[in-house]
Amino acid sequence: MSGEKLDRDVAKEQIDRLRQEIRHHDWCYYVANEPEISDQEYDRLMEQLLALEERFPELITADSPTRRVAGEPLSGFPVVEHKVSMLSLANTYSWQELLEFDRRVQRGLNTSAQIEYAVELKVDGVAVSLRYEQGRLVQGSTRGDGLYGDDITANLKTIKSIPLTIFSSQIPLSMHSLEVRGEVFMTRENFARVNQARERAGEPLFANPRNATAGSLKLLDPRLVAKRPLDIFLYACLAEQDLPETQSEAMDLLERMGFKVTPHRRVCLGIQAVIDCCQEWEDRREALPFEIDGLVIKVNSFVQQRQLGETAKNPRWAISYKFPGRQATTRLLDIQLQVGRTGTITPVAILEPVALSGSVISRATLHNADEINRKDIRIGDRVIIEKGGEVIPKVVKVVTSVRTGQERQFQMPSLCPACGGAVIREEEEAAYRCQNLDCSAQIERIIQHFASRNAMDIEELGPALIRQLVAGGRVKNPADLYDLRLEELKALERMAEKSAQNLLSALEKSKRRPLSALIFALGIRHVGVVAAENLARYFRSLDALGAASREELEKVSGVGPVMAESIEKFFRAERNRQVLNRLRQAGLVWTEEADTAERRKEDGGLAGQRFIFTGTLRSFTRAQAEEMVKSLGGIIGSAVGKSIDFVVVGEQPGSKFQKACDLGLKILKEDEFRLMIERLQGNI
Ligand code: IVH
Repeated sequence: MSGEKLDRDVAKEQIDRLRQEIRHHDWCYYVANEPEISDQEYDRLMEQLLALEERFPELITADSPTRRVAGEPLSGFPVVEHKVSMLSLANTYSWQELLEFDRRVQRGLNTSAQIEYAVELKVDGVAVSLRYEQGRLVQGSTRGDGLYGDDITANLKTIKSIPLTIFSSQIPLSMHSLEVRGEVFMTRENFARVNQARERAGEPLFANPRNATAGSLKLLDPRLVAKRPLDIFLYACLAEQDLPETQSEAMDLLERMGFKVTPHRRVCLGIQAVIDCCQEWEDRREALPFEIDGLVIKVNSFVQQRQLGETAKNPRWAISYKFPGRQATTRLLDIQLQVGRTGTITPVAILEPVALSGSVISRATLHNADEINRKDIRIGDRVIIEKGGEVIPKVVKVVTSVRTGQERQFQMPSLCPACGGAVIREEEEAAYRCQNLDCSAQIERIIQHFASRNAMDIEELGPALIRQLVAGGRVKNPADLYDLRLEELKALERMAEKSAQNLLSALEKSKRRPLSALIFALGIRHVGVVAAENLARYFRSLDALGAASREELEKVSGVGPVMAESIEKFFRAERNRQVLNRLRQAGLVWTEEADTAERRKEDGGLAGQRFIFTGTLRSFTRAQAEEMVKSLGGIIGSAVGKSIDFVVVGEQPGSKFQKACDLGLKILKEDEFRLMIERLQGNI
C-alpha cells in the first residue's frame, strides 16, 4: 500500500515536471517561434507524460498538455454570456476620418494636447475570448452578438499557442483570474495548405483565411479542429486589479504571461504619427505571413479610455483604419461566351484591365446566365470585382449609381456563337448547351482533350493548329486526325514540312497509347483518368466496354449509375460508333494485356500511400474499401505507426483511432475518404 503511494508521489512529481517542461517548449515553439529542442525530443517528453498518465489516470488534469484534444464531438455549442460585452470597432477608410476621430477624442478628454495612441495590426480572423481562473483556462468563447457567444472551449484548447495554464511566477496572483481577448487566424501558408488538401479530397475550397478559421472553429469535433493549423493573437486584457496603466503595457504583461500577443505594436504620439504608421503598413502588409485588413488605433491610457466610455456598439476610445480592399472597380467591356467540350456555354466578363492584389485582371467568370440576371450585370457597367484567396476573380456587383443608360442588357443567345446551332437549356440545369454535334467550338475542345497529355499525348497538336484544322473543315472528329496527309498539312498557314512531319509521327506514336488513355481521350462525360484506368483494367478491350450493360459497368470500382449511364449513351450513339470504327481501322490500341494493367497501378493516384481502417464504414464493406485503395496503387497497412499516411475512421472506431490521433496522423472520415477515392477515379 505505502509502496504504491510512494510510487504515486514519485509519479506526480515526474508528471508535474514533464508538464512544466512541455508547457515551456510549447511556448518556445508556438509563441516565441524559437524551439529549444527537436521534435523527437518533444515527442519523447509527451510520450513519457502519456505513459505516466495512463498508469495513474487519477492524476490527469484538464490543463495537462496531453488533454489539448479531448472529448467527444458535441451536438451544438452551449451559449455563454460575456461579462463585459465584446464591442466591435467603428471603421474608417481615410486620413480625414482619422483626424475627425482624434478631434472627438480630444474634445471628450477636454484637452488640446497630443493623444498617445496604441496602434496594432488588425488581424483578419475570428474574435474570441478566453477566461482564466487561478491561472487555468476555464472557458473560451466566440464573440457572437457581443453579449452572448458560443462556448468553444474544447476547440480553442487545441490551439497550441493558447496556454492552458499561465506559467509565469512573476505575475501578481490576482492576475491569475482574468479574461483575454484576441483573434484566431490562419497564416497564408497554412491556408494554402488546407485548401490544397481540400482540393485533393474534392472538398469545397475556403475563399480566404478568415473563412477557413471561422469554418474550423465551428466544427463540433475538437479532434478535427486539432488538425486545422489555427493560431491566435491576443489584443485585450480584462482584469479586476493589478492591470498596468496603458494598453501597451498590458500587452507587454500578457506577453510575459506566456500569451501570444499581436506583433508589431507601436505607441504613437499624436494622430499624425498614427497616419504615418497606417501608411507604412499599407505597403508592408503583403510581407506579413498572415492577412490583416487594417490597423486598430486605441487611446493608450486606460484612465482616458474610461473617461471616453462607449456608445451602444463601439468604444469611443478606439477605431479601426481599414485598408482599401481586395476589390477593384472597372468597366465591363463585353460578355463573351465560351463553348465547352460538351457544348456548355459559359459567359465570361471581359474587363478593362485593372490591377488587383498584385496582378492585372482582364477577365472574370460570370458562372451562368442566372448569375448575370441575379446581379443585373449589363455590358458597359462599372463593376466591382474581387479576388478571394486563390479563386478566379469574380464580379461582385454593379455600381448602379453611375449608369448612363447606355448599358446593354445581356441575353444568352438562342444560337451558338461558334456554329449557329441551337442552344437549349436543359431542365433543372443552370447551363445552356449548344446542341450541334458539329459545332466548331465543341470540336476544337474535343480535339484538344483528345490530344491532351493524359489522353493521346500529342504535344504537336496545339490550340492554334487545331483551330485551323477545324475551321478548314478538315477535322470534324478525332478519327479525322489519323487521315491527315503530309501534303495538306504543308499547305496550312505557318506549317513547315518539318513540323508537319513531326505531327504525323506524333500521331503515329499515339496509336500505341494504352487502352486506358484512349478511353479517357474519348471524352465520355464523367469519365476521368482514374475511371478510365479502372475500366481498361476491368474490360481489357474497347469492344467489351462498349458492349457492357449498366449493371456490368457499375461493378467496376468507382463507377456509379451516372457514369454508367453516360458510358452506355456514348457507345450507343451512331456517330460515336462510326468514329470508333475508324479509330480502330487506323490501328489504335484496342485491347490490353493483364500485365500492363498491373504495371499501371504504380501510377495510380495513391501509389505507395499506406492506409489503415478503423470502425465500421456505412457505404461499403471493409474489403471493398481496401480493394479501392489497392486498385489505385495504395497499400493497406497492418498497424498504426508513423509510416501510415491515412487513417480512415468509420463509426465506433477502435484504439487505432486514439493512437493515430496521438501520432498526429492524417485522419479521414468516411465521407472524406469516399470523396478522395471518387476524385481519383475521376467521378467528380
Ligand atoms: S480591439 C472594443 N484590437 O477587429 C475593442 N480588435 O471590430 C475590441 N481585431 O473582430 C477590439 N485585431 O476581433 C482589437 N488588435 C486588435 C484587433 C482587433 C483584430 C478584430 C476584432 C473584431 C474587429 C473589431
